[in-house]
Amino acid sequence: MTTEATSVYIVDDEKSMRIAVSQWLALDSYEVKSFARADAALADLSDQFNGVLVTDLRMPGMDGLELMHRVLAIDAQIPVVVITAHGDIPMAVSAMRDGAYDFIEKPFEPEILLETVRRAGEKRRLVLENRTLKKLLDKSTGIERNLLGTSETIQFIRQEITELGPTDASVFLIGETGVGKEVVARCLHEVSPKRDGSFVAINCGAIPETLFESELFGHEAGAFTGALTRRIGKFEKAAGGTLFLDEIHSMPTALQVKVLRVLQEREIERLGSNTPIAIDIRIISSINGDPRQACETGRLRADLFYRLNVAEIEIPPLRQRGSDIILLFEYYAMQAAERYGRELPVLGAGCLQALMSHPWPGNVRELKNVAERYVLSSLPPQQRLTHILHHCTADQQTASCSLASQTAEFERTLIEQSLKRHRGNIGAILAELDLPRRTLNQKMNNHGLSRRNFLGGDKSDE
Ligand SMILES: Nc1ncnc2c1ncn2[C@@H]1O[C@H](COP(=O)(O)OP(=O)(O)OP(=O)(O)O)[C@@H](O)[C@H]1O
Ligand SMILES: [Mg+2]
Repeated sequence: MTTEATSVYIVDDEKSMRIAVSQWLALDSYEVKSFARADAALADLSDQFNGVLVTDLRMPGMDGLELMHRVLAIDAQIPVVVITAHGDIPMAVSAMRDGAYDFIEKPFEPEILLETVRRAGEKRRLVLENRTLKKLLDKSTGIERNLLGTSETIQFIRQEITELGPTDASVFLIGETGVGKEVVARCLHEVSPKRDGSFVAINCGAIPETLFESELFGHEAGAFTGALTRRIGKFEKAAGGTLFLDEIHSMPTALQVKVLRVLQEREIERLGSNTPIAIDIRIISSINGDPRQACETGRLRADLFYRLNVAEIEIPPLRQRGSDIILLFEYYAMQAAERYGRELPVLGAGCLQALMSHPWPGNVRELKNVAERYVLSSLPPQQRLTHILHHCTADQQTASCSLASQTAEFERTLIEQSLKRHRGNIGAILAELDLPRRTLNQKMNNHGLSRRNFLGGDKSDE
């Protein structure tokens, strides 16, 4: 989210040191500002600072420790790296205890400083990103807070909710498992005139057929064997509110007829009673799949479908909503980090790519679990995601985020595809990939590829 370059403020009374450090950092594309005095640096800092403060400890006027305390008073999460004189360990310890991000002992190699600044800068970037995300959530309306996402599709769906919510129209939701159908149903309820009534969800796929009718309509005591006391059904419970018929196609067809009648007559009778009860409810239904096909195969009665489908909202799978993936992942990872009191590891470029290329068959529900496991994992941050995603699906994933393993994976794919294309014809593969035979043999061995698995057609060239 934050894209501008990381700043580094360097505070040192020694000019040669300021120049040297500024040059190293500038070469690494940091925006460097150097200060000879601590008070000048302090005057230039705020809680918006996107960067790292590197300061010498012993300086005339305000010293490095005092500067650090005053900076941390502005924002306790600004990383301060202190530079200590050789052997000045007590001071370094005291700085660390008081909240320094790290210390570096003079003299030091440029690499040490660059590596420390890089880590500190990433941490700061994440802190600022989380703050932006939190602010965004605080400012957002109910729908935006519950149905997160910046993709065009989600924006469009939010618009539809705003338009349809206030009407009493029955809405039919279509989408794969875990895409957020129930979230959308609740949003529709929240912006409807019936929001003070209950939102009652019934998962039609989870109720045994024999219990379905009494679950929906309720029953009087003695209505059937085992009906010892009166029971209020879901229709009545949702009176004045919204009834969400989840997975409507799993409802027994005989019952679909009865539901249709309720919708037409706007009244129900409990089992074992002849007294009609008027009900005023809003109905939202959902299906995981194509409703028209369900009508064709007879699982969903067409007359009921057209009654329920006054308006239709289709929620596309997560893999088609690229920009939502990272946002939702960061959101759920942040929540998990807060809940479990864990550090939130920085998402490197490789991890972002792994998230974007994962197929997410379980959609947002799966992503939420992955984000949680990512935060709780004890593996190094770069390995966590690929490890978790690997276990999510048998789909081919980049084996790790490192360049070497991505290159190896790419090489393996090229050779494998060539093997497939030429059905194991080594001569053709050698020509296509322009490789000496020994190299190809070696690489196939390394990648565990066997020519035998691709044979077909021409087998002459062994
Ligand atoms: N756009 C979103 N913003 C925030 N959370 C979301 C979003 N979409 C889905 N979720 C979360 O993902 C999980 C699955 O969502 P939900 O239960 O609404 O999916 P569903 O389509 O009803 O799935 P199923 O078909 O399996 O019942 C929930 O925890 C929900 O809070
Ligand atoms: Mg659901």
